[in-house]
Order: sequence, then structure tokens, then C-alpha cells
Amino acid sequence: MSTIQFDGVGKRYGNGAYAVRDLSFTIEDGEFMVVVGPSGCGKSTALRMTAGLEPITEGELRIGGKVVNGLSARDRDVAMVFQNYALYPHMTVAENIAFPLASRGASKDEIARRVAAAAQTLGLTEYLDRRPKALSGGQRQRVAMGRALVRDPQIFLMDEPLSNLDAKLRNQMRAEIIGLQKQQGVTTLYVTHDQTEAMTMGHRIAILRGGLLQQVGTPRELYEQPTNLFVAAFVGSPAMNLFRAEFRLTETGPELLTDGAVLRLDPGAPLPAALRAESGHRIVVGIRPEHLSFAPPGTPGLAAEMRMIEELPPEKLVHMTIGADTPMTGGGQPVDADFLTDLGMVAAAHRAPLIARLGIDTAVPDGPGVALHLDPRRLHFFRASDGAALR
Ligand SMILES: Nc1ncnc2c1ncn2[C@@H]1O[C@H](COP(=O)(O)OP(=O)(O)O)[C@@H](O)[C@H]1O
Ligand SMILES: [Mg+2]
Repeated sequence: MSTIQFDGVGKRYGNGAYAVRDLSFTIEDGEFMVVVGPSGCGKSTALRMTAGLEPITEGELRIGGKVVNGLSARDRDVAMVFQNYALYPHMTVAENIAFPLASRGASKDEIARRVAAAAQTLGLTEYLDRRPKALSGGQRQRVAMGRALVRDPQIFLMDEPLSNLDAKLRNQMRAEIIGLQKQQGVTTLYVTHDQTEAMTMGHRIAILRGGLLQQVGTPRELYEQPTNLFVAAFVGSPAMNLFRAEFRLTETGPELLTDGAVLRLDPGAPLPAALRAESGHRIVVGIRPEHLSFAPPGTPGLAAEMRMIEELPPEKLVHMTIGADTPMTGGGQPVDADFLTDLGMVAAAHRAPLIARLGIDTAVPDGPGVALHLDPRRLHFFRASDGAALR
């Protein structure tokens, strides 16, 4: 019933700039959808358009199959939770939770019943008479949730609701929100800039960049089959290792030419057709830290230099660098928002970081020079010109 359909939805401001452009995807009834992306990518705009707080300038938004472009916020039956709680300081917890019902003229009995139920669900029963300033951050966030819950809405909208909480509380509230959403079965659109939060909470995740949808999928789909370099580098921690290489199909099999060295790939491995078409061209190669291993002595591999080992039982992160023709991102580095634009520019002057994620007991060869085995089945390939995955 309460699906949310974005159909070519856009938001263009008076200055001509798009905050969101041509957004098309569907949130299923009862689904927990997370929209994630760097700051300024249009997440809040998408959410506010859904809430009816921001006019839609292009396309159609349908809730439960009905076009809502022209409907005001109060006619959309959505409840929203913000980052900054937005509680009324002079009201008690009970009054804060009751506010949306009271402002709609619900009866005293109904208000009391619903507030008690919401407080019970959120563990706030004993705090109902307190004012917000006498609550912890997590409790305040729960009151804000209570105010959304009490309305029994068709749709929950949440804009970075956990950003103001410390790490421990954030983890706890994450679990509470997941449980609550599951229990209530309410279609939910949740916005965050934190990819870990997105990956742990969403049934599916929509990744935005610069107002444009990059990919929609389950956490596993995004992790295993990123549609482009941006998604590949954004999802996962430590980030996917990425380096440039020339790809060549030769009579003896596929090869990667990087940093002046030829690396032969297992000729038996299946290679995507789109990659075959790139033979003779420079591409970007990616591999997740957990898929890197050391080449057995005497076998060829990607030459790397050992830097340091970070022990994080039950794992260890082996930090290395690889040579010249490489710098990109990965190696645990945060994503540079402009790195796709920079793709055409090869800065060959410095060495690029690379991380292998191994079991704490896995033997690491004596450095400084080591060779890394690249399993072609674990490699991701991207076109250099636009970063599209070669699949
Ligand atoms: N009133 C406005 N006028 C012009 N541009 C705006 C306005 N509000 C937001 N923007 C721009 O729209 C883009 C998306 O903003 P927003 O949706 O808040 O991003 P996010 O929530 O992902 O950080 C940003 O570039 C922002 O500067
Ligand atoms: Mg925002």
C-alpha cells in the first residue's frame, strides 16, 4: 500500500542548480530504504520532497500509487525524525510525544492511550513527566522517535537521526530503530552520510552523488557488484584498493601492465565481455582488502612494499604501497569527491597505499619487497574514462 515511487524526480533551485536530478527508484511497502552519500549530494532534499516540505520541480512522486506532488505535508501521512530532535523544551516528554496528536484535535483518551503505547515501545514510560533538558541524548532521540511513532503514519522519514549521538549510543539506537521498523512494518526512508550505518540498517541502499543516483541495491549487491568507481570506493571499510593498469589480451592470456611490470592473470578465469573490449587500454583495477593474498615464492605477483602491520584481532591489516602508475584511492583512504574527475590525470610521482586484510595468524613474508597474488575472479574492473564497471 505505502510504496514510495520516485519517477524522474528533480529539484532545481532558483539559481538553476540541481540539488537532485532525475531520481527514479521505488521503496516497497514495509521496506527500510537508506539513502546515503557525501555531504551536499541531495539526501535531505530528496527526503524533504517526500515529506512535502520542499516543492518538487520535476517528475512525479507517488505514495501508495497516488501522485503527491501537489499534496501538503500534513496530507501525506508521513512522520519525520530529524538530526537535532526538535523537541519543545518547555513541554514534558509526554506533551512532546503527544504534540502531533493534540495539534490534530485527537481526544484526551486517545492521546493518553497512544502516548502510553509509544512510551512503552521506546522504554520512556518512567520519563514521561520530565522535560527534555533532564534527558540524555539517546533519550531525547527516543522522544523524537516517539513523536513520529505516535501518529501511526504510513511512512517514516529520518534525516541523520543518530548523528548527534556518541558511537556507543549510536550503535544501540541503530539496533532499536531496526527493531522498531521491523515490528511496525512501516515503509521507511532513512538518510545518512555514513556508509557503515547504511550497510547495517538498510534492506536496500540508494547511493547518491552530486544529486544523481548511482546505484540501488542490497548491501551485498553494492559491496560485490558496484556499478562504478564511486560506489566501489564509497562502500566498505577499509576501502577497496584501486590502481590503474593497462589491460591486454594476449595469446598467452590476459595481462595487466602496471608500473612498468607485466602481471599475467590466470588464463582460465572468466573475464567480462566489457573488459575484453578494453584490451590495449588503461583501466582501473580494484580488489577488496580481504581478497588480497601474498604470491607464493617464485610465482609472479604485483610488486608491493611493506609499510606496517596493524593488529586488530581476529584480523590484521597489512599496509603496503604499490608503485608509480597507480595513485587513486583505497588503502583505507577516504573517497575524494572529485576523484572521478581526476581519473584522466595520471600523477605518477608517488606510491599508492594498499591494504590487505588477513587473519591474525596468517604469515606475512619478510619485507620490504613482497609480491601480491591477484585472483582474477576477485578483481573489479572499471573504465578509465567514466569509472563505469566493466562487467
Ligand atoms: N535553498 C537552496 N538554494 C540553493 N541550493 C540549495 C538550497 N538548499 C540546498 N541547496 C543545495 O542543494 C544541494 C543538496 O543539499 P542537501 O539535500 O541538503 O544535501 P545533503 O543532505 O546530502 O547534505 C547542496 O549543494 C546544497 O547546497
Ligand atoms: Mg542533509
